[in-house]
Amino acid sequence: MTRDRALEDIILGLLPPGVIVRAGPIVAAGPLPTIEARLITRAVETRRAEFASGRVLARNALAALGRPVQALGATPGAGPDWPDGVVGSLTHAHGVVAAAVARKTALAGLGIDIEGPRTLSLSTWGSVFTQAECAALTDSHAAARLFSAKEAAYKCLAGLGQPPAEFSDFEMQPQVWGYRLRMSRGAPPVPEILVRHCLIGERGVCTAYCHASTGQPA
Ligand SMILES: CC(C)(COP(=O)(O)OP(=O)(O)OC[C@H]1O[C@@H](n2cnc3c(N)ncnc32)[C@H](O)[C@@H]1OP(=O)(O)O)[C@@H](O)C(=O)NCCC(=O)NCCS
Repeated sequence: MTRDRALEDIILGLLPPGVIVRAGPIVAAGPLPTIEARLITRAVETRRAEFASGRVLARNALAALGRPVQALGATPGAGPDWPDGVVGSLTHAHGVVAAAVARKTALAGLGIDIEGPRTLSLSTWGSVFTQAECAALTDSHAAARLFSAKEAAYKCLAGLGQPPAEFSDFEMQPQVWGYRLRMSRGAPPVPEILVRHCLIGERGVCTAYCHASTGQPA
């Protein structure tokens, strides 16, 4: 397993203490444990490679956390089936893959998202952004970055057991350091979720997390 320690440090810098991060290049899939291999029986080679690379890094991160597993299955919602007492997230894009894990005593929810250079055309904004988010957007690059933040937040919400039905069910409220997540009116309340992001060259990295001690709805 080749590690991209520079990328690991960047992701760690967007997260609170207690998180283990592993990142590296997407490489051709080697043999996988049966539970994992069954999840990609019909996948094309590129998908097999990103999935397998993610699983290898995730298992390595879990071992470093002191919670080693033989295999990391998937939930019915397609997210990783983390062991009891662990939160985590996986992402792959632009030739790299990353996994982040933490004990639930430290974080209640965790999401990460990496995006390569991309744009999000104006015609799609209305279906994934709230009115306030749309009003603050300047161009299709900013829209792609905001969508990546929402994907990290989506993974965090899913890990909390509260996956939103629509991307417009929650809003990214800009802060000096990133975003604070706010659920739209009518959506069930969630604990406070903080979303941070940074650009490294053409690559964007986003993290979303919820402290274990945050008991109050946002
Ligand atoms: C789940 C989602 C956020 C993944 O983001 P992405 O930018 O497409 O892809 P990434 O490479 O960053 O992440 C992929 C990883 O996310 C994880 N993932 C997939 N579904 C997930 C879920 N429901 N919850 C948490 N993590 C999930 C998986 O680990 C996946 O990698 P793997 O299949 O190799 O294990 C994205 O596919 C999405 O938004 N799906 C739509 C879900 C939806 O329609 N919800 C209703 C509207 S909110």
